Amino acid sequence: ITNIAVLTSGGDAPGMNAAIRAVVRACSFYNIECTGVYRGYQGLIEADFIKLDARSVRNIINKGGTFLKSTRSLDFKTKEGRKIAYDNLKANNVDALIVIGGDGTFTGGQLFSQEFDIPLVGIPATIDNDINGTDYTLGYDTALNTVVEAIDKIRDTASSHNRLFLVEVMGRDAGDIALNSGIGAGAEEILIPEEDMGTERLLDSLKRSKKTGKTSSIIVVAEGEKSGKNIFELASYIEENMDEYEVRVSVLGHIQRGGSPSCFDRVLASKLGVGAVEALMNGKSGIMIGIHHQKVVHVDLVTAIKDDSKIDNELRRVADITSV
Ligand code: F6P
Repeated sequence: ITNIAVLTSGGDAPGMNAAIRAVVRACSFYNIECTGVYRGYQGLIEADFIKLDARSVRNIINKGGTFLKSTRSLDFKTKEGRKIAYDNLKANNVDALIVIGGDGTFTGGQLFSQEFDIPLVGIPATIDNDINGTDYTLGYDTALNTVVEAIDKIRDTASSHNRLFLVEVMGRDAGDIALNSGIGAGAEEILIPEEDMGTERLLDSLKRSKKTGKTSSIIVVAEGEKSGKNIFELASYIEENMDEYEVRVSVLGHIQRGGSPSCFDRVLASKLGVGAVEALMNGKSGIMIGIHHQKVVHVDLVTAIKDDSKIDNELRRVADITSV
């Protein structure tokens, strides 16, 4: 391997910059050239490249977002688009590719590495933590801390006014952010995409806890939860059926995707970035570099993107017990 290209794609996540930095520094350490690709797969198709050296990535380990920018490329979903991307890599003497992103990024990467003779390795980065075969994805820990900090503030005002708050967090298909932040912030109920609690059961539970002396409540709602009501409809439903509470809604939105990465995410990004370069040097392709029990592991991209969303029953149990 003489020249590795690196790109970030899909929804950004805190720690992407730290991962790019680790890739670039590992390339420099092993005397491999490194090519940055702007705007993800779209930049591959448009040959939007930049040469990177160890000094190009100074002062970015602490920065949120991705300085290489990110897109969700529709052109890369076509065979013609991918062929242009491959030709551009060859024309620039790139002989391996590292893609940093989530399941969409890996789906594209997996196809690309099957169709063309270009070794490709993925680094999992998404605040949703919904990739198989890795205990954590980049950005998840930072997002959790952002959410918990925000809910702590909401709790102050909820408690002052004896109100019930519905707080929407990200997670279109995965409840990891909701479940963990809900426990960490002491939520009364947590609604996640993996299960439908049922609005009646939710109401019963809120009424029961009101009777035991709760004066305010926080319900964490993952954006993909399955009640069939959006968060504002859910708020009206609760307010109509419970005279006891004034209900307010807070949608945290994209603040969850920004901000300086936590130390955990910076260390994880550094391990995964170095691991990705070393995997390519060892002839690996079509894999994701993950983390399992603190150790760097190699996981087939096909396994990484398998839809295997299930609830962590232990977390669910702990949430139920600690919110009585
Ligand atoms: O990064 C993942 C995610 O946050 C999802 O939970 C969410 O549904 C989606 O991205 C929203 O992303 P965008 O606004 O970039 O389309």
